[in-house]
Amino acid sequence: MNVGILGATGAVGQKFIRLLVQHPWFTITALGASERSAGKPYANAVNWIEDVPLPDQIAHLTVKHCTPDALDTVDFVFSGLDPSVATNIEASFAKAGIPVISNAKNYRQDPKVPLLIPEVNPDHISLISHQDFSHDGSGWIVTNPNCVAVPLSLALKPLHDQFGLENLSMTTLQALSGAGYPGVPSLDILANVIPFISGEEPKIAPETQKILGTLNATQIDQPSFTVDATCTRVHTLNGHMAAVSCRFSTKPNSVEQVIQTLKAYPNPIADLDLPTSPAQLYHLHEQQNYPQPRLHADRDKGMSLHIGRIREGDFFHINFVCMAHNTIRGAAGGAVLNAELLHKKGYLN
Ligand SMILES: NC(=O)c1ccc[n+]([C@@H]2O[C@H](COP(=O)([O-])OP(=O)(O)OC[C@H]3O[C@@H](n4cnc5c(N)ncnc54)[C@H](OP(=O)(O)O)[C@@H]3O)[C@@H](O)[C@H]2O)c1
Repeated sequence: MNVGILGATGAVGQKFIRLLVQHPWFTITALGASERSAGKPYANAVNWIEDVPLPDQIAHLTVKHCTPDALDTVDFVFSGLDPSVATNIEASFAKAGIPVISNAKNYRQDPKVPLLIPEVNPDHISLISHQDFSHDGSGWIVTNPNCVAVPLSLALKPLHDQFGLENLSMTTLQALSGAGYPGVPSLDILANVIPFISGEEPKIAPETQKILGTLNATQIDQPSFTVDATCTRVHTLNGHMAAVSCRFSTKPNSVEQVIQTLKAYPNPIADLDLPTSPAQLYHLHEQQNYPQPRLHADRDKGMSLHIGRIREGDFFHINFVCMAHNTIRGAAGGAVLNAELLHKKGYLN
């Protein structure tokens, strides 16, 4: 299939290019960005920050304005657009009959838009049929979650199914790449931790509740667990970590039962052979000082979830640490996996 990338010059857009240049099903045929970049060869418009060379076939593509007419070669688009412009641009593509797989936050809470993690809530895809962007239903929007809600939801899904989550408290340690480019000023972050990330904490509860919700005909019935989140920026490059504490309606008998529950989780896409699926979804680390972003974020093409330090608490039933690559699993890689699932299920063809 021919794909376009909206916001192709940004940090997430570049990650899309890196993940898609050798993709077996999808070929990049168009790139879109702002007025500042449109009309230029991609190599001149972008400040390439990936640690592999900019692929030749992409370097020479001319960046287009983000309009359906300008990207007339594509079957669907990935969006890594700035949220200040994503609402109108993404809707214009969906209205023109071009599906949008988006990283932006703008449509995540729309009740008809799936907030999709293929291993957690693949059945939510059917919400697409209730969208009315285009008269014949050919244009629609699917979103992927915030880069913290992704590892959190992956970790919680088996535990919530088994024990029923009631209260959750967490502190994140979020990598610099999550702030895009140029991101946080070096003098603010070097040898430092910043205990606030604008707009981040309010996303975590509603996104996690929507993802872990149950599809009920045309809507998602959302669980009512509480989430107290503190989001911090730390000077790691890739890999968002979260220290999580949970209380459940049924207290797990032991740490071992929690480990067995995670190990026994029936990954709903395990048999679909999607190219971006990690070989192993959950890495459960027994070594006390694991997981670590520098050692583990890139494992399994950056698509797996790392969990460690699983232990019983006094007030909370279970404490653990989880970590995943924020711009791959938490952004572009998650969106590519969404597109693969949608293709396999016949929504993209
Ligand atoms: N970084 C992460 O880890 C991460 C994780 C999850 C989700 N996200 C979300 O993904 C999106 C992109 O994030 P990012 O970090 O890649 O941001 P970024 O580096 O600032 O890139 C933003 C992109 O949007 C384009 N853009 C800005 N204004 C535009 C306009 N008026 N018309 C068309 N294009 C316009 C920019 O093009 P120009 O270069 O031409 O200005 C650029 O390509 C955001 O919605 C963000 O919240 C990011």
